[in-house]
Amino acid sequence: MAEQFDVVDVIRTKRDGGELSTDQINWVIDAYTRGVVGDEQMAALNMAIFIRDMGRREIVDWTNAMINSGERMNFTGLGKPTTDKHSTGGVGDKVTLPLGPLVSSYGVAVPQLSGRGLGHTGGTLDKLEAIPGWKADMSNDRMMEILKDSGAVVAAAGAGLAPADKKIYALRDITATVDCIPLIASSIMSKKIAEGTASLVLDVKVGSGAFMKDIDTARQLAQTMVDLGKDAGVDTRALLTDMSTPLGRKIGNGLEVEESVEVLAGGGPQDLIDITCELARNMLDMCGIPDADVEEALKDGRAMDSWRKMIRAQGGDPDAPLARAPHTHEVLADADGYLTELDALALGVGSWRLGAGRARKEDPVQLTAGIEVHADLGQKVTKGQKLLTLHTETPDRFERALESILPGIVIGDAPTAPRDIILDKIL
Ligand code: URA
Repeated sequence: MAEQFDVVDVIRTKRDGGELSTDQINWVIDAYTRGVVGDEQMAALNMAIFIRDMGRREIVDWTNAMINSGERMNFTGLGKPTTDKHSTGGVGDKVTLPLGPLVSSYGVAVPQLSGRGLGHTGGTLDKLEAIPGWKADMSNDRMMEILKDSGAVVAAAGAGLAPADKKIYALRDITATVDCIPLIASSIMSKKIAEGTASLVLDVKVGSGAFMKDIDTARQLAQTMVDLGKDAGVDTRALLTDMSTPLGRKIGNGLEVEESVEVLAGGGPQDLIDITCELARNMLDMCGIPDADVEEALKDGRAMDSWRKMIRAQGGDPDAPLARAPHTHEVLADADGYLTELDALALGVGSWRLGAGRARKEDPVQLTAGIEVHADLGQKVTKGQKLLTLHTETPDRFERALESILPGIVIGDAPTAPRDIILDKIL
């Protein structure tokens, strides 16, 4: 059968600043998924979109076409409200780990389909795999069973969910077309809408360690995603949160599990508690549970009980000790003063170079590699004081990691104002 369009015409339309029709978008996404449109042609179209942008109707059509390229999940049979969170990714961002159990302790289902880390930002699945026995893979039936029973699940997004996005994302990654608002928004939201959650809170990160380096572009991305969610019938909100410095005090897979457990035990660093609780309140509010005292649920052990259930349901042992890296290196303050900068990107790249992240998606990660931070931003420090401990299984990595980390540490003469973690909210 003849194809409905000529791909060269579609590319030319966008290249020259025109609008793509709904039919053109449906066709090009479908034809690319079928292999009729080639990688080089889709790469050219992505670059044209990157340069020329897309209007709201085009973004909605692009998102829907990617959803329609695969299966849609349906949780309406669960008999309880469903809610999910998506973060655009940052350094030390382990929020998913305490958040799912915290929210599910209120009788709500939290079906989280997560990914692996690429580059300097970590992935939830890599983190949870630091727990002995824990597995992300499961059938859809098993996922429903866990959601009915313990309420929270973290699973690998199956190949059937928005397959067009998987192909397009891999291509964007190697053609400098990732950081493009219409393409990011449609990529994230196609997966979240196909996942079938009734409500969604987006944690859009802003700062050096995030995709979006400034608040205006982050706000634009957040608004585009909130509009896409609402248009598709998913109650969607967004928080804009700071990612100029790492979240919490631990970066790296197993280290982030450790810190998440500290939060679930009623402790942990305040920035991580604040973001986790604000996201939880919004998720619960959208499920008809307003004003939940989520801080109390962290302190009184309810969230910890849900965590233990969630980890056991996926084969993990919540009591098993986590492995520690055999090699460590301490970074000391080189002057007296105030810790005025601890740059998220510098530490994220450092942790990645220590072995916590991967450069290509087939690379293994070191579950024990990463960075512990021993001082708070703005804190007075003295020369020789321990600021960081670096962890790795391969000590020849310290040198390259330090090349990234050291320029990210600034000790100044004057204290800095405390930073705001939650910068804005889009309803
Ligand atoms: N995460 C996604 O899933 N897609 C993007 O385009 C960027 C981040």
